[in-house]
Amino acid sequence: MNLRKCGLLMALSGTCLLAATPAEIETKINALISRMTIEEKLGQMSQSSFPKGLPDRARGEIRGGRWGSFFNGGTPQEKAEAQRIAIHESRLGIPIIYGQDVIHGFHTVFPIPLGQSASWDPELVRQAARIAAREASAVGIHWTFAPMMDIARDPRWGRIAESLGEDPYLAGVLAAAMVSGFQGEALDAPDSIAACGKHYVGYGAAEAGRDYNTTWIPETLLRDVYLRPFQMARKAGAATFMSAFNALNGVPASGNGFTLRHVLRDEWGFDGFVVSDYTAITEMIAHGHASDAQDAALKGIRAGVDMEMVSTNYYDNGKALIDARVLDPKLIDQAVRNILRVKFRLGLFDNRPQPASTPAEQPSREALEIARRLATESLVLLKDRNGVLPLAKSVGKVAVIGPLADSPTDQMGTWAMEANRSAVRTPLAAMRQKLGENRVVQAAGLKTSRDTGSTGFAAAVDAARAADVAVLFLGEESSLSGEASSRSMLDLPGAQEDLAREVAKVGKPVIAVILAGRPLTFHNLAEQVNAVLYAWHPGAMGGPAICDVLFGDAVPSGRLTATFPRTVGQAPIYYNHMSTGRPAAESGAEANNKFTSKYLDVSFTPEYPFGFGLSYTAFEYSNVRLSSPRIRIGEKLAVRADIANTGKYEADEVVQLYTRQLAASLTRPVRELRSFRRIHLHPGEKKEVLFELSTDDLAFYREGGELTIEPGAFHLWVAPDSASGQRAEFWVVR
Ligand code: GLC
Repeated sequence: MNLRKCGLLMALSGTCLLAATPAEIETKINALISRMTIEEKLGQMSQSSFPKGLPDRARGEIRGGRWGSFFNGGTPQEKAEAQRIAIHESRLGIPIIYGQDVIHGFHTVFPIPLGQSASWDPELVRQAARIAAREASAVGIHWTFAPMMDIARDPRWGRIAESLGEDPYLAGVLAAAMVSGFQGEALDAPDSIAACGKHYVGYGAAEAGRDYNTTWIPETLLRDVYLRPFQMARKAGAATFMSAFNALNGVPASGNGFTLRHVLRDEWGFDGFVVSDYTAITEMIAHGHASDAQDAALKGIRAGVDMEMVSTNYYDNGKALIDARVLDPKLIDQAVRNILRVKFRLGLFDNRPQPASTPAEQPSREALEIARRLATESLVLLKDRNGVLPLAKSVGKVAVIGPLADSPTDQMGTWAMEANRSAVRTPLAAMRQKLGENRVVQAAGLKTSRDTGSTGFAAAVDAARAADVAVLFLGEESSLSGEASSRSMLDLPGAQEDLAREVAKVGKPVIAVILAGRPLTFHNLAEQVNAVLYAWHPGAMGGPAICDVLFGDAVPSGRLTATFPRTVGQAPIYYNHMSTGRPAAESGAEANNKFTSKYLDVSFTPEYPFGFGLSYTAFEYSNVRLSSPRIRIGEKLAVRADIANTGKYEADEVVQLYTRQLAASLTRPVRELRSFRRIHLHPGEKKEVLFELSTDDLAFYREGGELTIEPGAFHLWVAPDSASGQRAEFWVVR
């Protein structure tokens, strides 16, 4: 309980149950542990989805201390009743912790995390998570299985949609913002929910982008890239972590003592709890790591997974493993301590109110405004030939064409199960509201994004003929995105490119708005249309956000956080790659050197690079200046640059700072994002942007977990994206 609430209690009752101190919590945990049976301990380590309808059998199990947690299900009334039984009818009265996948909103659905990351706006991302926490806690949820912070470098992987992009620093900053939003100022506040860093670790490195596939990640890369966002989330105070499905260097992540104990506990000092992913403990048998259920339980507990999600190996085998003296009972106590510690920190033992009412699911005005702002800031303008955008409001008639112009489910994207669909505003609805019904001509052209039929094309062509401009809403249905949704091709599904071609033949200006859960390849489409706006799955307020940008009521400021390949054959593709000994060149004499790292049939460069995004205005970068040409290890380097708005719209710009170490004991990436600033400039305005770079920012891991800073020459860019910018040079010296 925090002091704010305590003050209120003092006023009301003259007494105040001050929040238990960490020492007091440990005392309470010890007292409980000393009284718990092995069955009750194993019960705390067991999580199931909420028992539908809360049948008598489940009531009896709760009374017997069978479950420490339920997730994803149960009405507020059922949750309150189950909690009442746990607290008042079980032997020790240990409360249940309720979890839920609140990934990018609860009743109010925000853009998918990959879209949110394109805003480069941690504060707005935090506000969205805060709203999600308020809405989820209001129905009795204590814990969300978010933020997901897997680094993804392969857009074939469906869960790139849930990620915060390919850069470890940006992903870490945004994950920390989400942790702060979910957990609020005090974890035991009624509107705070525990965060869960997932999927720990390396899940996004699935070979071939195929979900659940094997990962091989050398320790230096694991630490520099895949662990980094998790370490930042840990520093932000994430209360829990979730162990992943994938095998990591031959050991399943849910049985991996190196990552779960050596790194997470011993190096990072994490004292919350780890929950497995869904049946990931049992899956160690299929992995070929555990020989049977008992072995799976043994390996999961020894590795440091405190709570088992859905599968019941811990409960079924824990006692036998202890009786056979195969498993040290101290490890059971340790896991239970971690779980109880989070329950105490959440205030569950302090009678945190367990709401039994179903609050209005209608998102608040504030929530929808944040959803609209975040959706707007997530939109990335990829092409705008001859400045066809923004459209004038006097544009006449607009043809709204495509299968994703009016599909609430699809625009919300993956993991939107609690969404309030009535609050979703589609692009078609928003366009009609902005222009009036009689100025909007609609023709879907295709039933769904996968539709291969052309029977709807004629109506779409007629709509384009009847209008002054055509806006295509294309992309991926939400069902093609998220878990178990990897795609071997990245093209627009179905006959969408054919539809676009027929519409383009009409000869009117055509704008393509793409709603998708991953980077797609659409080179030919981009050649045929005047402009391309990437909207991801933009959430409930995607429609108004897209229309605001199309008509200039908002200026696009989104920047890509995942590299867009030209073809799927380039995947995995990412900006912070190594040079190789034969780096290819796009220009100059080397460009024609056959014997460099490239392809015969497509450029080695991406279609659109990390950090890229256009605006309606133009920004000029100049005068990069450093506080010194050299710094000693331990010192800081001040980096300044002037950014001017040389266009005619006031707008936001995301100024990015990249560095490259030219030579080191381990090769370093050709660029690494070190910092960024989102600035606002009026037309004609110039601002000085200052970055403070410390040599700690330049550190990298050597084998064995040694974090090192090596002297040497560096390049540095202050840039609008990862492929351009003003370059400077500096040295780090001992
Ligand atoms: C799923 C996902 C995980 C989710 C969990 C509970 O399989 O991998 O992200 O939180 O199960 O739904």
